[in-house]
Amino acid sequence: MQFAKSIEKLRASEIRELMKLASDPSIISFSGGMPNNDLFPVDVMEKITQNLSIADKKKAFQYGPTDGIPALKESLAKYLQSKGLPLDGNKILITTGAQQAINLITKVLVDPKDRILTEDPSFIGGIAAFNSYDANVEGIAMDEGGINIAALENAMKNGEKPKFLYVIPYFQNPAGTIYSPERKIELLDFIEKHDLPMLEDDPYGELWFDEEVKGWVKPMKAIAAERQTVGAGFKPAPTYKDNIMYVGSFAKILGPGFRLGYMLAPSELVDKCELAKQSQDACSSTYTQVLASAYLQSGQLEPYLEALRPKYKKRAQIMLDALDKYMPKDQGITWTKPRGGFFVWATLPENIDSSDVFKIAVKNGAAFVVGRAFDPKGKKNNGMRLAFSGADENKIEEGVKIIANAVKEVLN
Ligand SMILES: Cc1ncc(COP(=O)(O)O)c(C=O)c1O
Repeated sequence: MQFAKSIEKLRASEIRELMKLASDPSIISFSGGMPNNDLFPVDVMEKITQNLSIADKKKAFQYGPTDGIPALKESLAKYLQSKGLPLDGNKILITTGAQQAINLITKVLVDPKDRILTEDPSFIGGIAAFNSYDANVEGIAMDEGGINIAALENAMKNGEKPKFLYVIPYFQNPAGTIYSPERKIELLDFIEKHDLPMLEDDPYGELWFDEEVKGWVKPMKAIAAERQTVGAGFKPAPTYKDNIMYVGSFAKILGPGFRLGYMLAPSELVDKCELAKQSQDACSSTYTQVLASAYLQSGQLEPYLEALRPKYKKRAQIMLDALDKYMPKDQGITWTKPRGGFFVWATLPENIDSSDVFKIAVKNGAAFVVGRAFDPKGKKNNGMRLAFSGADENKIEEGVKIIANAVKEVLN
């Protein structure tokens, strides 16, 4: 077979091989960036399904509009407005997962060799989508407060103007970090100054662990719109134009199996994405859209999230306590302290290869994802993504101990 050039840049074979080693169900796995199976709202959804009208059930079996069924778009619009997101001048497109939203945005904006700036590390699915359009993906350093603005300024000076900046500001995948309120304002100033479009990817924002960060998950797209409002307490930005593409997902609040995500973005861009979507899947699953829409309308989302947050918070705390207890001290190993979401990101000394740690850990019964998967250039491999979301709560400490012992073995 003579494969297309566009497929050549897709990598991950090594990572896939490593993950195969971790497929044994007895392994304590911190690999999957997925919700916990035992926490899905199965019972509520069962009742909602039973209560659907015959007309809705028929609709669920049929094709639907490419941009999404009207009932879901309406309930989603209310939900997005409640976060302060601007609907004026923007449109909603329901997509087959946030992954498709990222893919469509890239498809309509990016030509081969165009630059895309991302956080470093960044979401593997985002990097893969960008690579599939042969973009030049460049990682920008981050710290616990978000992306480094000076490094961004530098990147703007060195090369052609990037097509967009891709960020996951709230409980990042893989780093687990959240942007500070100050950093969000600095970043908004930055993109306004450079007239740089930004893709704000927000699948985890609802999963905050404490009241303080609850206030920090307000989307930058919402803050940018507020900055236009006289009296909002901000200096009006005269050059402002809405060039933030906000992407969300039902995967982490309902279940990835629904395969539902969405974008809220400037209308002209959404129109193009809708055209592109027609040739990909015609429409996202009407069946799950009908269910998701009934779920949003039922008012069950907020009570569910209230019950969910402490469960993930507890898992995160167990993991952090175990890291404190078992990880070697004074050897240059650091890890993030997530205040929401699914992930802890550990950084080993630069000369340590996390694949070596992985192989020992898997032999002894625990797995994580090696850093290279999240490096925009696919090279740096001294990071480890430890997802606390999917593992059995009672096994987290044991899993961390196995991984910490593997780290010790590689360090020695
Ligand atoms: C940051 C980020 N964006 C997008 C996605 C894709 O979400 P979906 O399952 O809705 O396609 C994920 C899933 O892991 C993610 O972590």
